[in-house]
Amino acid sequence: MQYQNIAPFINRQEEIDYLNTWLSEAPNYILFLYGPKSSGKTTLIYNFIQTYLSDPSKYSVKHFNLREVLISSYEDFLQQFFRIEDPEDRDSILTREYNLKVFRLTVETQKRIKDRQLDPFNVMKKELMELNNQDIQPIIIIDELQALDFVYFNSQRELIKELINFFVAMTKESHLCHVLLSSSDGYFIEKLYNDSKLKKTSELFEVDYLPKEDIVYWLSNLEKESRIKDFELTDTQIEYIWEHFGGSIWEISSVLGQFLKVCKNNQVPDKKMQEVVHRYMLQARSYFEEYAALDVPRTELLKEIDKYVQDKGFVKEANLWRLLNEGYFAGKQEVQEELHYLVQQNFLYYNPALAEYRLQGRSMEIGLDMFVQELEV
Ligand SMILES: Nc1ncnc2c1ncn2[C@@H]1O[C@H](COP(=O)(O)OP(=O)(O)OP(=O)(O)O)[C@@H](O)[C@H]1O
Ligand SMILES: [Mg+2]
Repeated sequence: MQYQNIAPFINRQEEIDYLNTWLSEAPNYILFLYGPKSSGKTTLIYNFIQTYLSDPSKYSVKHFNLREVLISSYEDFLQQFFRIEDPEDRDSILTREYNLKVFRLTVETQKRIKDRQLDPFNVMKKELMELNNQDIQPIIIIDELQALDFVYFNSQRELIKELINFFVAMTKESHLCHVLLSSSDGYFIEKLYNDSKLKKTSELFEVDYLPKEDIVYWLSNLEKESRIKDFELTDTQIEYIWEHFGGSIWEISSVLGQFLKVCKNNQVPDKKMQEVVHRYMLQARSYFEEYAALDVPRTELLKEIDKYVQDKGFVKEANLWRLLNEGYFAGKQEVQEELHYLVQQNFLYYNPALAEYRLQGRSMEIGLDMFVQELEV
């Protein structure tokens, strides 16, 4: 089937260069990708693997996208990360592509892990060493790492900490394997940083929304990049879209889908475009209404956030002292809990490297400002 409005892959050259440089150096630290929701982390990872890591005689990629699976126990983790290779079953050995994605186990090894005679991390290490001996570069990639939070290991130890310790050993200490971890949960990354010995053993790399020039390029080349033939956008319209959605590719894709329904004579009439875009902004505003209507502390919090975001693009916890001073919140912890909730709801994005909060995208920024402006009428 030939779809119109297909998922394109725009630019990301800087990020790809960064990843290639990282890969060309001996493994020395854990690399963390983070960024706002739907900024394109997963897409970047898939694209990078496909384009640069597809040669099995050079690379062995162990890629786990934990969004696709449910891991609620240590047993689930074993099942997702390891696969049994039955020496009798030639098919399972021959389907290399499948086997390359996970760590391999014999039935015997699996049994010993289950009986707790063998540590799964030792099994992983052994395979990584073998790959190194064969001159194959192993790369472990875990997307949506926060899915492993709250999973325990031998009932006491936190699996995530064991894994991180293992990754530190594999990178910084023995240089056996490149490790790339990704999450859009800034709090989770910060917690890991504070709990584990990550500060000196890892690097953070942000995958942000696309910059303006990429969005302008994309929207000026809709047929080539997205196979959209039914309309073209004018420069003013492209500017208008950028102004309302910034570099949020995911939202813009969705808006383009709406435009397909209202376009005429190879154009999207301005009035229709404004209606479509306005609906998105009203939706964003209503999120804040539902959150804060008739709730004085929450409304005051949103007013403060809006003030700083309009001015600087972000807000920091320390900016919010007025809320305590004027008695809207009892203490620091109450403010933090509220911010936490806003992050969980994907209203706010928390950047752990800068300890800054931003809105999850330009449309949310506009929605918040609409909410705050209307309070004053
Ligand atoms: N470079 C790109 N060019 C075009 N479209 C992209 C690009 N990167 C991502 N997208 C599109 O944006 C959407 C969101 O991307 P993706 O799922 O990769 O984001 P994410 O950062 O992994 O999100 P999450 O925070 O939910 O994990 C997808 O529909 C994807 O097709
Ligand atoms: Mg993702």
